[in-house]
Formats: sequence, structure tokens, C-alpha cells
Amino acid sequence: MHSILLRVVVAGLVVACLASIGIMAQGNPEAAKVQNPVAATPESIAAGKPIYTRYCAVCHGITAEGGSGSDISPPAPNLIDAVWKRGSTDGEIFDVIKNGIQPDLNMEPFGDRIKDPDLWNVVNYVRSLAKKN
Ligand code: HEC
Repeated sequence: MHSILLRVVVAGLVVACLASIGIMAQGNPEAAKVQNPVAATPESIAAGKPIYTRYCAVCHGITAEGGSGSDISPPAPNLIDAVWKRGSTDGEIFDVIKNGIQPDLNMEPFGDRIKDPDLWNVVNYVRSLAKKN
């Protein structure tokens, strides 16, 4: 009896691992190596908030739970759940915001409008929303 249960648990773990590798494979290994140089202090989070509200909320929603999309833009993903199609590290999130997502750039690049330190502040702000969730 016990060994059957054990096998079921092990099989479940294997499936879960494979699934997470699948999700990670969508990410960006180079960007994942980049460390966030800006500590997630209350100041950084407060600095990220107005930038998020101005540039991101229109698509991702004010609470970052994702948007419904429109004729010209597909739905924008939830940024406060555990699903990160483009990678879950700070470095990968930074890269997505800075350079956008190729090839169709429905997620546009913001590197021309938001300076790097503020991009990190936005990463920290989005993370703070996820923690509240
Ligand atoms: C015009 C609408 C739009 C705006 C504005 C926008 N996004 Fe996006 N964003 C999207 C869409 C659509 C996707 C999904 C694109 C894809 O996967 O191909 C996306 C994807 C992302 C992802 C990847 C999510 C994942 O699951 O890996 C992050 C992170 C992100 N956006 C953050 C931001 C931030 C931060 C801002 C503001 C600086 C912002 N976005 C502004 C539409 C938008």
C-alpha cells in the first residue's frame, strides 16, 4: 500500500519538475543571470508605482492582474500570479520591460522612455504587488 502511494507521489513530483522546466525554457537564460542592482526598499517601490500606473496599467491593469485586450492588443498577462511565460527572475522581467517581446512587440519596449534604475523600480513595484496578493 505504502509503496503505491510513494510511486504516485514520485510520479507527481517528476511531472511537476518537467512542467517547470518547460515554463523555464520559455525564459531568457542570459537575462536571468542579471542581478537586480536596486534593493526593493519602500523608496524603490514608491518610485516604481507612478511609472507602472502611467505606462503599464493601461494594459496589465492597475492591480497587475492582467488586461482583457482590445482590437489592437491581445490580453496582457497577469503579473502577480506565479506564471511567468517569459521568465520569472528580476533580470528576465527587466529585459522584457526594457526590450519588449519579439517579434510582434505587443509588449512594447520601454527602454527608450524609462531609464534603467526606474525600470528596476518598476520590477520591484510589480513584485510588491504580487506579495500583497
Ligand atoms: C500595449 C499593452 C501593454 C503595455 C502598455 C505593457 N504591456 Fe506588458 N505585456 C503586454 C502583452 C500583450 C504581453 C504578452 C506578450 C507576449 O507574451 O507575447 C506582455 C507581457 C509582459 C510581461 C511578461 C509576463 C510573463 O508572463 O512573462 C511583463 C513582465 C510585462 N509585460 C510587464 C510590463 C510592464 C512593467 C509594463 C510597463 C512598463 C508593461 N508590461 C506595459 C502588453 C502590454
